[in-house]
Amino acid sequence: MTDQSTVLADVRRGMIPAHIYNDQEIFALEKERIFGRAWVFVAHESEIARAGDYVVRRVLEDSFIVTRDESGEIRAHFNMCLHRGMQVCRAEMGNASHFRCPYHGWSYRNDGRIVGLPFHQDAYGGEAGFKRKGQRLLPAPSLDSHNGMIFISLDPDAPPLREYLGDFAFYLDYYTKQSPSGIELRGPQRWRVKANWKIGAENFAGDMYHTPQTHTSVVEIGLFREPKAEKRKDGATYWAGNGGGTTYKLPEGDLDERLRYVGYPQEMIERMKTSWSAEQRKVVGEDGFMISAASVFPNLSFVHNWPRVAESDDVLPFISVRQWQPISENETEVLSWFAVDAEAPEEFKALSYKAYLMCFGSTGMFEQDDVENWVSLTNTAAGSMARRLRLNSRMGILADDTEVAPALTGEQFAGPGSARVGYSEYNQRALLARWADHLERPITAAVARDIGGQDEVVPALEHLPSEDTAEVTGA
Ligand code: FES
Ligand SMILES: [Fe+2]
Repeated sequence: MTDQSTVLADVRRGMIPAHIYNDQEIFALEKERIFGRAWVFVAHESEIARAGDYVVRRVLEDSFIVTRDESGEIRAHFNMCLHRGMQVCRAEMGNASHFRCPYHGWSYRNDGRIVGLPFHQDAYGGEAGFKRKGQRLLPAPSLDSHNGMIFISLDPDAPPLREYLGDFAFYLDYYTKQSPSGIELRGPQRWRVKANWKIGAENFAGDMYHTPQTHTSVVEIGLFREPKAEKRKDGATYWAGNGGGTTYKLPEGDLDERLRYVGYPQEMIERMKTSWSAEQRKVVGEDGFMISAASVFPNLSFVHNWPRVAESDDVLPFISVRQWQPISENETEVLSWFAVDAEAPEEFKALSYKAYLMCFGSTGMFEQDDVENWVSLTNTAAGSMARRLRLNSRMGILADDTEVAPALTGEQFAGPGSARVGYSEYNQRALLARWADHLERPITAAVARDIGGQDEVVPALEHLPSEDTAEVTGA
């Protein structure tokens, strides 16, 4: 593999070698050193609310069954049969107490333990030949959750998720904790785009600059109350911990008025007021900034916006959680969920869903506008001329690295991290700086395990009822 140190150094000074958006070697490194280590979002607890509920999600090629077992514990099992490696669960979501492999019929409880092994005695000579007792589907090396958002990491020594998120957790609450019950998700819609995965993550992290151009038509048809997309330059971008995002500047008013302005009914506002800290309330209520799009490194994004859903002037806010799941250096699977406060009135949920579908999701107008740019960029980045071009990603800083606009003070912006009003590429640089940090750090080789051997030390099964290896026939 080519030495990428120059690429990383260029990225760190805000000059981006254009080929990083379509480069096989870079992608191989990303796969190993980013997705082999970082916390990656896989599901929200509301998607697996009942015992036995499961969804199948991936970290690149690695498929995981994310499930709530019979005791209520959330688990992520590597979706590969311990026998000859068939994918055990082929459905995308459902409810099951057991999973049975289609190939030779080995079956597993939803806590991962192997329970059925056809002809164990005849074929293997029983436990003496293949130790079935205590075997389980491989668990994700690390699993953790925050505000119901479940993440896994392929690194067994990953730092706690809360530590990884850092101060971004402050902003995550605006999307995922509008009431004590948190959010519920609908979806995801999934589709593939012929674009590099980093572009969406960067765009959602801080690209307020594209809105007036890329989304002109959405403003022209009156989907937004604000007459001009240029209004974006009055908003602030912030970067905190392992993520960052954009905001809109709200008209004068107090917290209640400003939340009503974006379309929240009073009963939801009351719950937000008790769910958010004084600082979280101040960012909206006094500083006047309302969160919009955001990204958490590496590939999780959020959006919050408030279009008009009817002919009236009324607007309705929606939240979407989205993931840029890399397929290759030039293809990404987009997963897009609708998210809404679980305690919101039913009518609000219905209208908010409508607002989301108009703007985002596979048919959303914003989505269509954005993706054409990203596909085109990716295609162009594959050529040999792109190797002669370093893109200027230094918006917001002068040649001597001084700032075009100063960072907001704590008085002006109560949130953690660093925030600035106006167009800049601080956040895109912050995201790519993390990308560079990961790419230059080799990964510790994973330890492989024998399955069913006699000398093997079976990892302890936490929180499980007593061992029982009865055959299951009707899983
Ligand atoms: S591969 Fe699963 S039972 Fe054989
Ligand atoms: Fe956009």
